[in-house]
Amino acid sequence: MTTRPTGRAPITSVPDIDLSSWDFWARPDEEREHAFRLLRDLDTPAFFAEPEINFAGTRGPGYHALVRHADILEASRTPEIFCSGDGGATNIPDLPAEFTEYFGSMINMDDPRHARLRRIVSRAFTPRMIRQFEADVEAAASRIVDDLLETGPGCDFVTEVAAKLPLKIICDMAGIPEKDYGFVFDRSNVILGATDPEYVGDPQGIAHALLTAAMELQQLVEDLAAHRTERPTGDLISSLVNANIDGERLTAQELASFFILLVVAGNETTRNAISSGMRLLTVNPDQRRLWLEDFEGRAPRAVEEIVRLAAPVNYMRRKVTRDHEMNGTRYRAGEKVLLFYWAANRDERVFADPLRFDILRDPNPHVGFGGPGPHFCLGAHLARREITVMFRELLRRVPRIEAGEPERLLSSFINGVKHMPCTF
Ligand code: HEM
Repeated sequence: MTTRPTGRAPITSVPDIDLSSWDFWARPDEEREHAFRLLRDLDTPAFFAEPEINFAGTRGPGYHALVRHADILEASRTPEIFCSGDGGATNIPDLPAEFTEYFGSMINMDDPRHARLRRIVSRAFTPRMIRQFEADVEAAASRIVDDLLETGPGCDFVTEVAAKLPLKIICDMAGIPEKDYGFVFDRSNVILGATDPEYVGDPQGIAHALLTAAMELQQLVEDLAAHRTERPTGDLISSLVNANIDGERLTAQELASFFILLVVAGNETTRNAISSGMRLLTVNPDQRRLWLEDFEGRAPRAVEEIVRLAAPVNYMRRKVTRDHEMNGTRYRAGEKVLLFYWAANRDERVFADPLRFDILRDPNPHVGFGGPGPHFCLGAHLARREITVMFRELLRRVPRIEAGEPERLLSSFINGVKHMPCTF
């Protein structure tokens, strides 16, 4: 995907769909929805040639697009066959060696290395630990709304509201001082938004921009770690550099790549869930009213419904470790599959009236945080808290806030909103 979109003809049938072209990802939601519906109705997952990506060297062999809920569940819970480690889960081409140093953390690993890392870091992410952060999340959301009301009557919702809360919380957890928030924000935008001209102007410069952003974040964590080793402060970095659980300790390299994963995963995803949620509540005023009638009681389901439709992470990749049949399709060892969460969250076989935003939807077995399995989102509890608290503040204190048309990120990986006007 080295060139950017040009023109486009309407999608009327499956041969018009190319999930590896920028043209596809520049299309509006309705067209994507139509295309994924056509793909879900196929008897067997469609196969696509890989995009040309300039950091990847030779072009890979292509991938099967898993778009049905049942396929994503099954592939997620069978990691010994659909693995994350052989070349990476966050990218279509295999990660080149120089990238693994920065982007090779647990999300791109398999057991037993994955399990070991997850054991060490998950102590910082239990619901009990998140509850300790509750007060911080509330104070941060309240300050964001104070600032909003002061500067009103309108703003860019993404930069002034949605992006601020996850950024502050992840920086607080890691002990990153406020003066560096902008630095972290810009680097995580480059890492997940590199394919969008707003973040990296020249498509040929994507690899360089990614590596530079990663190196700069690595430098930041090394500085933090050096201080915390001498003087632990109780933040996440302190507990990670000093953790020695059953003889297990992170190496400097593991700490750096985990930190990069955390700031990127913690920022971009929750931000997009909050932005999409605001838009959904604007275009569905009946659902906003319903939520306001009993905010606390309805929050858990409303938040799941926002994550279902927003599906901030569009896909993860797996590689097939041995020949295998799943739901009637044969997969060969070495083949790649992409798990399209956005598409599975709209699967009419599982969700009644799937395009409807229904804050009371129950059950809601969406796969926005990934399917069941070892890689299920480590930050899901935290993300749910942040989304709940942000909307509690917004809907109570700025009940008339309305979002305009979202300006989308050009990306196949992240369903992102770069900017979105709002008025109140
Ligand atoms: C709405 C917000 C979020 C969404 C939609 C989301 C989505 C996902 C998805 C789909 C995966 C699955 C990867 C796979 O199966 O291969 C994942 C994994 C992960 N997420 Fe999230 N995430 C969110 C928020 C967060 C936050 C706030 C953090 C951290 C503070 C975080 C940290 C991680 C980590 C570390 C993993 C890797 C887990 C592993 O490989 O064991 N995420 N996330």
